[in-house]
Amino acid sequence: MGGATILAEQPLAPAGRNLPLAHELMPAAITAADPSGIARAARLLMAGELVAFPTETVYGLGADAANPEAVRRIFAAKGRPADHPLIVHVAAAADLAYWARDVPLGAARLAAQFWPGPLTLILPRSGHADDAVTGGQDSVGVRVPAHPVALALLHAFRAVGGHGIAAPSANRFGHVSPTTARHVADDLGDAVAMIVDGGPTRVGIESTIVAFTSPQPTLLRPGGLAVAAIEAVLGAPLALPDATAPRASGTLASHYAPHTAAQLVPAQNLLAEIDLLVDRDETVAVLARTVARPRDFDGAWIAAVDDAEGYARMLYASLRELDAARADAILIEDVPAHAEWLAVRDRLARATHG
Ligand code: TXA
Ligand code: MG
Repeated sequence: MGGATILAEQPLAPAGRNLPLAHELMPAAITAADPSGIARAARLLMAGELVAFPTETVYGLGADAANPEAVRRIFAAKGRPADHPLIVHVAAAADLAYWARDVPLGAARLAAQFWPGPLTLILPRSGHADDAVTGGQDSVGVRVPAHPVALALLHAFRAVGGHGIAAPSANRFGHVSPTTARHVADDLGDAVAMIVDGGPTRVGIESTIVAFTSPQPTLLRPGGLAVAAIEAVLGAPLALPDATAPRASGTLASHYAPHTAAQLVPAQNLLAEIDLLVDRDETVAVLARTVARPRDFDGAWIAAVDDAEGYARMLYASLRELDAARADAILIEDVPAHAEWLAVRDRLARATHG
């Protein structure tokens, strides 16, 4: 396969040349996907190719969920261990019955309330959910993404006979998830047939994952949908995973990590910590939230917003930008312990592990 095509409304090559070279396809003029591009993406998926696409959370690296060979290419492209299960993205809650069986009432209620949306349900798998998708587990993860381009693609895929698109986040395994088409091209540009561009993602961190595979619904990963909203619909608290809970790769201690070593620092220690490193002749890149940039600081500095939603939206792009500064260390000002920040805290803990 050649380099990735980023769908653009503008012509990709100057007039008079039929085929642009792969590197000319890379970013330049990225605009929203048009209907013919989406139709082409659906056909590529049906032919077993990998297509990256936007969701409201992060970009996904998609393959036909019913084609084990195509699904295996996802693992090869990401460098992800084959026993890590993938989420099947579907066009509507009605498609749940194709991939899952024995859907409990609580799960059906959550689907009705929150889909399309940043919620993944883990349910007992049907005969259609192959080991390649489930990582050999008896359960399958399903969600309906709330993004017009993702939904258009899922409907176009259904129109050509598809049932669902298996897609992990479209980053190299363990790296920061992509929130723009450019991020996908940076990580996986050579490995995908197409990157459908839907602009920067709205939520910015991955979906909340709830498993219905044990007597009590269990939170496997905090994410874009608040736990309190889920518990309000269920009328009961979510359990936290124990040793018997299904594996979730986003739950590895070190994940979502920039290449540069990153550490979390309480606000009141941030300036002292910077001084300490600078005195040791180390360069520092900073993700601050409430602390103002000192006048004499000449490294990379990002001032993040101080609300949890806005912070989540910018988090991965910020980590990539700070990483690109090639500093010796990334310092991240700690965030509040409040429940609103749960998913962000989870990502920061993993990004700064080890
Ligand atoms: O927001 C999201 O969830 C994004 C977008 C693209 O939809 N996807 C995403 O996929 O974050 P990924 O593969 O990076 O993370 C999916 C998580 C993994 O931790 C995986 O282990 C877990 O979902 N998962 C999927 N199926 C599962 C299953 N049957 N049992 C337990 N965990 C499962
Ligand atoms: Mg991921």
